[in-house]
Amino acid sequence: MAAQNNAPLPDGLDIAGYRIVKKIASGGFSIVYLAYDSEGNAVAIKEYLPSALALRQPGELVPVVAKPHLAVFRIGLKCFFEEGRALARIVHPNVVRVLNFFRAHDTVYMVMAYESGHSLQEHIARAAAKGSRPGEQFVRQVFTGVCAGLREVHANKLLHLDLKPANIYLRLDASPLLLDFGAARQTLHSDAPMLAPMYTPGFAAPELSTRGASLGPWTDIYSLGAAMLACMSCSTPQSVEARRAGDKLLEQLDKLVGRYSPELIDLVQACLALDPLARPQSVFAIQKALQAAPAKPLAAPSASVAAKAALQGEARGGWRGLVDRLGAIGRGQG
Ligand SMILES: Nc1ncnc2c1ncn2[C@@H]1O[C@H](COP(=O)(O)OP(=O)(O)O)[C@@H](O)[C@H]1O
Ligand SMILES: [Mg+2]
Repeated sequence: MAAQNNAPLPDGLDIAGYRIVKKIASGGFSIVYLAYDSEGNAVAIKEYLPSALALRQPGELVPVVAKPHLAVFRIGLKCFFEEGRALARIVHPNVVRVLNFFRAHDTVYMVMAYESGHSLQEHIARAAAKGSRPGEQFVRQVFTGVCAGLREVHANKLLHLDLKPANIYLRLDASPLLLDFGAARQTLHSDAPMLAPMYTPGFAAPELSTRGASLGPWTDIYSLGAAMLACMSCSTPQSVEARRAGDKLLEQLDKLVGRYSPELIDLVQACLALDPLARPQSVFAIQKALQAAPAKPLAAPSASVAAKAALQGEARGGWRGLVDRLGAIGRGQG
């Protein structure tokens, strides 16, 4: 199935009591619009429109779904609807607020509170373009909020399954917000193989590509580690396949020594364990670790390689010990 470029709904269109202002983003499964409700509040409307299955020509409203794709399109539609329904139960400052969903144009729309800001992905790209990178305090503060949102998601028996900087949105005050639970549909339905989300290499845990492996909070915890690493290294982490062929994680983490505290580096390493049982077992434990002050002040970024190596040897207590400590903190908590 070749992906097609779908025409967005026209600006100014009235739909189910909302007025479309403009398209703000489009991806493989959906188009997101800025719109206003009848009281003039800004909302973001996400339209289910998988480009591999449905085609909408400019000037049309209803997409054309070729007969062979119809059954899969409908399963996806149902899952999108259920994703919205599950998300609508969650009211948390770090999870996007779903306000409504409705059917129109033979598809489904999810209405969310509109948030001004930009994705963490954009933030990282801007930092990289300036030759800098997000600081320790920023990483700790953003991911503490991400953990708070994720705990609420897990408490509602949902998994995110596509956690990555592009799906973490930063409001103007830098408070984070989890977006895009598209992959969560996997936990609701396993009967839609053709719509199985394309997990993002570099952020997807190994169990996502292992037939019969059990998924759980530990699966999101791997992605959390990968997202922190992406932030700290300003690059996309290696995919699981690439790690299995030649793991460069330790090498990458060593480059962060001196710039970030040993505790933070160890935490990232623990989250990125290929063995799910070797990862911190609860998001609560990670949140606690992010909120704890590092034991020693950071070495100056200009420290010599030798000094960095000494710091690393002395201060990095080893990730196994850290996992044990985190396990003790987090046992029995959501
Ligand atoms: N509630 C929202 N408020 C503001 N912008 C949003 C909102 N939801 C999504 N967006 C914008 O749309 C983009 C894509 O949203 P996302 O839910 O990740 O969809 P996709 O499935 O296309 O990745 C986001 O990066 C963000 O720029
Ligand atoms: Mg997304």
